[in-house]
Amino acid sequence: MCGIVAAVAGRNVVPILIEGLKRLEYRGYDSAGVAVVNGSLKRIRSCGRVMELEKLTDEQKLEGNIGIGHTRWATHGVPSERNAHPHVSGGISVVHNGIIENHDEIRSRLRDRGYVFTSDTDTEVIAHLVCSFFLETRNLLQAVRAAVRELAGAYAIAVISAEDKERLVVARMGAPLLLGIGDGENFAASDTSALLQVTRQMIYLEEGDCAEVTLRSVCIIDRNGHQVERPLHVSQLAADAIELGTYRHYMQKEIFEQPAAVAATLEAVTNANALVPEIFGFESQKILPGVDSALILACGTSYHAGVVARYWLEGLAGLPTNVEIASEYRYRDTVPNPRSLVIVISQSGETADTIAALEHARRMGQPSSLAICNVPESALVRSANLKFLTRAGPEIGVASTKAFTAQLSALLALSLVMAKIRGRLSREREVEALEALRALPGAIAGALRTEPKMKRWAEKFAACEHALFLGRGVHYPIALEGALKLKEISYIHAEAYPAGELKHGPLALVDARMPVIAIAPKDALLDKLKSNLQEVRARGGELYVLANRDAAVAEAEGVHVVRMSAFPSLLSPLTSTVPLQLLAYHAALARGNDVDKPRNLAKSVTVE
Ligand code: M6R
Repeated sequence: MCGIVAAVAGRNVVPILIEGLKRLEYRGYDSAGVAVVNGSLKRIRSCGRVMELEKLTDEQKLEGNIGIGHTRWATHGVPSERNAHPHVSGGISVVHNGIIENHDEIRSRLRDRGYVFTSDTDTEVIAHLVCSFFLETRNLLQAVRAAVRELAGAYAIAVISAEDKERLVVARMGAPLLLGIGDGENFAASDTSALLQVTRQMIYLEEGDCAEVTLRSVCIIDRNGHQVERPLHVSQLAADAIELGTYRHYMQKEIFEQPAAVAATLEAVTNANALVPEIFGFESQKILPGVDSALILACGTSYHAGVVARYWLEGLAGLPTNVEIASEYRYRDTVPNPRSLVIVISQSGETADTIAALEHARRMGQPSSLAICNVPESALVRSANLKFLTRAGPEIGVASTKAFTAQLSALLALSLVMAKIRGRLSREREVEALEALRALPGAIAGALRTEPKMKRWAEKFAACEHALFLGRGVHYPIALEGALKLKEISYIHAEAYPAGELKHGPLALVDARMPVIAIAPKDALLDKLKSNLQEVRARGGELYVLANRDAAVAEAEGVHVVRMSAFPSLLSPLTSTVPLQLLAYHAALARGNDVDKPRNLAKSVTVE
């Protein structure tokens, strides 16, 4: 959830650290800091954004050829300068992502030995531990290796010493970390995007690895103490993929990138004239025909994609499907089914709960897994048997948008493949489905044209404190996603219900101050939904309806309608999502919120 960047070079590394932190800021943004060795250890930290830190480093003319930087999302200790990283002990300085679970016990041991703590963080124990071993060994690599042996929990760390201006040491367990290989200069970071400014050559560290990084070499020691080589990858990420370009916000850019994101995600499917299981990996021919059910595990928006997929997997493929919130599933006693396909869905592939839920499912005796993920080298992708990479490109806005529609595209393709494997998709329907998938990018582009109306609606929503989202069937999870988007960035309290549930309780909340937004495509449940909407109107509730052109929902007093073009009904969950994203975006703007960095949140939730 935090971001790390580290560099050793023949030039001043401070601008490299600052630029890296700016690119990592979406991962955590309550405080930031850098430390360099230049004669002695020099550290600058600030509360708030990286821009503030940059001002301070300029004012104080901070320079050095070796350094570490960090942008924080607070777990232990409030956001403040004293809790910001890097933390220091003696001449040792440390930045850390993750949570050290045994920090209390280590802290009291170190206190007994005279170490003085100046922050409320778990990280500070790492600084003191490394310092204590460094005093014995005078060798930074050995000191870090000895220190991490005492840690329980998750960490990615980068460490420098005032006594050594030639090497930095990094280590990881349970949090991502990679090395960037330059020309006579080397780097480390928690995320590729931080280093694209200086190199495309990356080495992804494995769990338990520790590495010593100097100007001309990197030396990796694995968890068993053996020196190892790890493969060098050349990042294919386009240089401008993380640039804002002409957009005001990343979220806006990412909403408008959806036609391209979905087209890229489905390329292998739509370029073929038949649906084939191999798009999910080499072993799919072996695994998929043998599964008799699906268990979907995910969090947040990715969980909503999973709930949509349940309708498709059961409705199209006849495959019994359970969807579980990963943070619940990992601690629940469930009845395992060895023939179930465990599907994990994640934009980042780093979400701690989703990774742990997959491990839990496997330990319970469910060996077959499929990861649907947007980050190729992520822990989740590496841990599943089958994988499908959504090709949405980097998603920077904290509110997930293009990753969601890309996930839905992948899950629709999976449902169709499963339907074919299970003998429930005739050749005629397969051809129709492929045509529908080919039409999807255009359909999403069409849905983007609702923006002017969504902007007008958003101005009204921005003046309210509550909103209710309704959907039925496969559109119920789309209502859930619409409500999550609105609350996450506009801070308006929003709830979503299956419209049929309204009269079982939530109708009591409805009055003129509670806008009710309904997803009303022309489907088998439309007439039932219309009755539910009447119930709202009769209580003075103001209705905002997303309808198809031919859905016969008329504008009237208190009933606002946006009409979407008619598309194959399979695509409707995707096209209906887009106006809801635009509504949330414009409501947040109207309220003057920081759309890309909403309060209290961070992009990747790598801690429990
Ligand atoms: O990276 P993941 O897809 O695993 O992340 C899961 C959730 O943390 C994420 O979807 C979160 O709910 C978003 N902020 C929603 O916009």
